Amino acid sequence: MENLYKIVIVLHVLSAVIWVGGVLFMGMIAVPAARRLNDKLRRHLLDDLGRRFRKVGWTALGVLIVTGFYLLWHWGARLDTILDLSFFAHDHTRLLGYKILAVIAMLAISGVHDFWLGPKATRADRTPEEVKADRRLASLLGRATGILVIVIVILATFVARPWV
Ligand code: HEM
Repeated sequence: MENLYKIVIVLHVLSAVIWVGGVLFMGMIAVPAARRLNDKLRRHLLDDLGRRFRKVGWTALGVLIVTGFYLLWHWGARLDTILDLSFFAHDHTRLLGYKILAVIAMLAISGVHDFWLGPKATRADRTPEEVKADRRLASLLGRATGILVIVIVILATFVARPWV
């Protein structure tokens, strides 16, 4: 049991590194670097990077959710205490509840960004005005995801240390 917990926590943290690192790399390095390229090259580069990161990143997110639920169970949460919210009644489990809410918001925003808007914004058949509007919204959603992953990591750090 204890060994399984150790494996799960390592998988959870490794997947967090992959997801958070990838989101921040895309927003802080790849997108600004691509702005210096011409339109066609930028579209190709961001489309390719986006598609590649989508596979790796969403696999990591899947691992985070599965391992996250195991950790939740390890902490004593059960379906009934999650559904009636009594599990989240204590100070440190309340933080965990906020973290889960932030994860749900991030999943919704990243889903729209990665599977709908991002691919649409890099398609070749759009008018310059449409591309501009898509890009502006894609960049806004990308930023929101970036802020949420940082909030999630800060909450996770304190969730894991209830004595702090
Ligand atoms: C984007 C998604 C997520 C990220 C980036 C993330 C990140 C992390 C990190 C970095 C830690 C370790 C903190 C530390 O030791 O300092 C952690 C712990 C934890 N996470 Fe997540 N997490 C995510 C999703 C979830 C989900 C969906 C759940 C629950 C359903 C969850 C439940 C937990 C629990 C219970 C711990 C504490 C484990 C322990 O110390 O026993 N996480 N998370």
